[in-house]
Amino acid sequence: MIVGRRVLRLEEVPSSNDLAKRYGREGEPEGLVVVAERQTQGRGRRGREWSSPPGGLYMSILLRPEAPTPQLLRMSVFSGVPVALALEQATGLNIGLKWPNDLLVAGRKVGGILMESVTVGSKVKFVVLGIGLNVNSRRSDIGVSEATSLCEEKGCKIEIEPLLADIILRIEAFYKDFVDGRVPADEYATRSTVLQRRVEATLGQERFVGRALHIADDGALVLKSDEGLVLRLSWVNETSLRTLDEDADFEKFLD
Ligand code: BTN
Repeated sequence: MIVGRRVLRLEEVPSSNDLAKRYGREGEPEGLVVVAERQTQGRGRRGREWSSPPGGLYMSILLRPEAPTPQLLRMSVFSGVPVALALEQATGLNIGLKWPNDLLVAGRKVGGILMESVTVGSKVKFVVLGIGLNVNSRRSDIGVSEATSLCEEKGCKIEIEPLLADIILRIEAFYKDFVDGRVPADEYATRSTVLQRRVEATLGQERFVGRALHIADDGALVLKSDEGLVLRLSWVNETSLRTLDEDADFEKFLD
C-alpha cells in the first residue's frame, strides 16, 4: 500500500496542500495523507480561496510519480473519477465531473481537486493531490452561492471515516493504473457535465466559446470554437469553464 502509508490527522491547518508540500520538500516518502477538519487558508484552483468550514473533508496526498511533467495533466483530470466513485458509494447520489475535476451534484459543486507539483526540468519531484469535499457542511457555512454539500443534497449526515478510507483505497488503485499508463477515461466521460455542450472557457484575458467535443487521453479538453477552430485546453489550474445552455442559439449550435 502506498497511499495512506502515513496519515496525519489535524483539527485545523492553514492549508493541507501547503503542509503536504512542506513534507514533500523535506523528503517524506510518497503516500503521506494529510487530513484536516477545517482549513483557515484553504486554496482552490485559479488562486481562489477554498471555503473550509467544519463538516467538510480536506485532504492532501503526497505522490512521487516517475513520470515526465506532461503526464501530470492526465493525473489531475482523471483523479476526479476515484473521488466521484467514492462519493457515489457513500451517498447513492449521481456525481458529475466538470472539467477539469470539479465534483457536482445536480449542477452544484460539492468538491474540487487542486493538484500542485514541484518539478525540476521535465522531471517530477513530487505532486500533492488536494481534495476538498463539502460533506456535512451547511450551505450557509460554505458561503459560496454555486456550492452545496453532500449532506444538503442527500438530506442526512454522511460518515466521514469510511468515505476517507474508500477515497484512499480508490486513489491507490487509480495511482497504480496511472503508473502503468491507464486512466479511467470511460468513467470520466460518462460523468462529464460538459461534453457535447456549448461552453465558455476563460484563461486569463482569453475567452473561448464553443462545443466541448471530448477529453483527450492526456486530459486536455478539446473544444470546437464558434469560428470552427479545434482547441485543446490544458491549463487546468488556471482555466474557468461554464456551460452556456441558456443561450438562445444552443439548439441551432447542436445542428
Ligand atoms: C477547486 O478549486 O475546485 C479545488 C479545491 C481544492 C481544495 C482542497 S481542500 C484540501 C487541499 N488544501 C487546499 O488548500 N486545497 C485543497
